[in-house]
Amino acid sequence: MTTPPLLSMEGIAKSYPGVQALAGVNLELGSGEVLALLGENGAGKSTLMKILGGAVRPDAGRIVIDGVEQSIRSPLDALGAGVAVIHQEFNLVPALGAADNIFLGQEVARGPAGLAWIDRGAQRRRAQALLARLGADFDADAPCRTLSVARQQLVEIAKALAAGARILVMDEPSAALTTPEVAALHDVIRELRREGTGIVYVSHRLEEIAAVCDRVEVLRDGRNVGGASVAAVNRSDLIRMMVGRELVEEFPRRSGTRGDVRLVVEGLTGGTAVRGVSFEARAGEVLALTGLVGSGRTEVLRLLFGADRRDSGTIHLDGRPVDPRSPRAAIAAGIGLLPEDRKLQGLVLGLSVRENFSLPSLARFSRAGVVRRGDEQTACAGAITALRIKTPRQETAVRGLSGGNQQKVVLAKWLERHCEVLLFDEPTRGVDVGAKVEIYQLMNDLAAAGKVVIMVSSDLPEVLGMADRILVMHDGRITGRIDDAATATQESIMELAVT
Ligand SMILES: Nc1ncnc2c1ncn2[C@@H]1O[C@H](COP(=O)(O)OP(=O)(O)OP(=O)(O)O)[C@@H](O)[C@H]1O
Ligand SMILES: [Mg+2]
Repeated sequence: MTTPPLLSMEGIAKSYPGVQALAGVNLELGSGEVLALLGENGAGKSTLMKILGGAVRPDAGRIVIDGVEQSIRSPLDALGAGVAVIHQEFNLVPALGAADNIFLGQEVARGPAGLAWIDRGAQRRRAQALLARLGADFDADAPCRTLSVARQQLVEIAKALAAGARILVMDEPSAALTTPEVAALHDVIRELRREGTGIVYVSHRLEEIAAVCDRVEVLRDGRNVGGASVAAVNRSDLIRMMVGRELVEEFPRRSGTRGDVRLVVEGLTGGTAVRGVSFEARAGEVLALTGLVGSGRTEVLRLLFGADRRDSGTIHLDGRPVDPRSPRAAIAAGIGLLPEDRKLQGLVLGLSVRENFSLPSLARFSRAGVVRRGDEQTACAGAITALRIKTPRQETAVRGLSGGNQQKVVLAKWLERHCEVLLFDEPTRGVDVGAKVEIYQLMNDLAAAGKVVIMVSSDLPEVLGMADRILVMHDGRITGRIDDAATATQESIMELAVT
């Protein structure tokens, strides 16, 4: 007799209006196994994991744990069955401390039944011990909104450990982390694997699969397309399984030559995050700004876009001073920002794909104050095709789109606005390998057309693959300038980023 797998999901189906997100998917996970769940944007990965975690109810299918069929109707049911899911969007209560979040719904009680009260001292001690086990040193009372993404993630993992989870799901856990933080997360995963936890790891970063996973399972359009042991497949096998075709180049070549200096930034300073940053950007190049989270990269872009207050420093575009005091002023000057946090800053979730797309360009779609719906729809349809945005209709609310497809809508919106300076903050975070190439191609096209293209990225292979020049930031200052990105390595960049 063979022992049943730790987890088996069988024939899982789920439809939303206009989309069959899952059409009978199977998944198996062993204890002490790290399974990579892969697939293009919209393939159904998050939906499958939401079903496992009790956040979404399936239309059909069975979930069997240790040979016993489970009825998982809520996240609490899932925890009871030993399943913890760390979703693409965290579920922490921002105002509560780490300890309170960890024990939310599973409070440590003291006193006789019926009269029990929460033993917050014991909770705090246990939380601190769990965090220490994960290599975290911050105070368990710190409100979660003050913690970095990496730390919030550790709180989520500690919460799963506190519940005694034996199946842990991480949906794109590394998307918001920098290289050393990802390495630390992988150490935590290896430790949990040693202890027998089964882990499902969803990621679009293929180099992580080889680093930390044992087996891959690939979904496409809500169906299984295949699985393999990680040792048996290489990078291009994975890409072919995910996107169903060969990718010639992950980082497409750029045509054209470097042109004149267009943007000159001198002594840019804002608060303590950005202190005296100076650089220039030329037509025809992609300039990358990298460094650790908190080094001031995003803040440089926000100052250029007028989203934060500039204390001092000057900005010239084509020799003329520009003064982006507000995003409105920045947009008028031809500066567009693709923010890293698309949910909070980039999209209106309740509005449709079309409405989000045309919002900053309404004036161009209007004659005498009336929006010409036909022009708007044609342009939107063009963008949906060009960026391969997966949405049932233009009128679908962006809330219902997968994470990667939401990112593409933000990109489409700014491309439509015809900006001269495009600031990309983590442009391919959460975007699948096939769509990444399309976004890179668009950045190349913009650069070749003479626009100023500046990219902030934590993804070092992406920085090395895309940039002509690299600026490395640390503590609000530029600590390294690499004028020929072809000479740089991940190690040489990291060295500049930590000193
Ligand atoms: N709440 C919802 N309402 C409507 N449609 C939805 C909803 N959630 C998911 N979908 C649709 O189901 C499909 C699968 O989405 P899902 O989020 O599972 O994809 P994913 O594989 O996680 O993609 P990504 O890599 O972009 O995160 C998509 O077409 C998406 O638009
Ligand atoms: Mg997803």
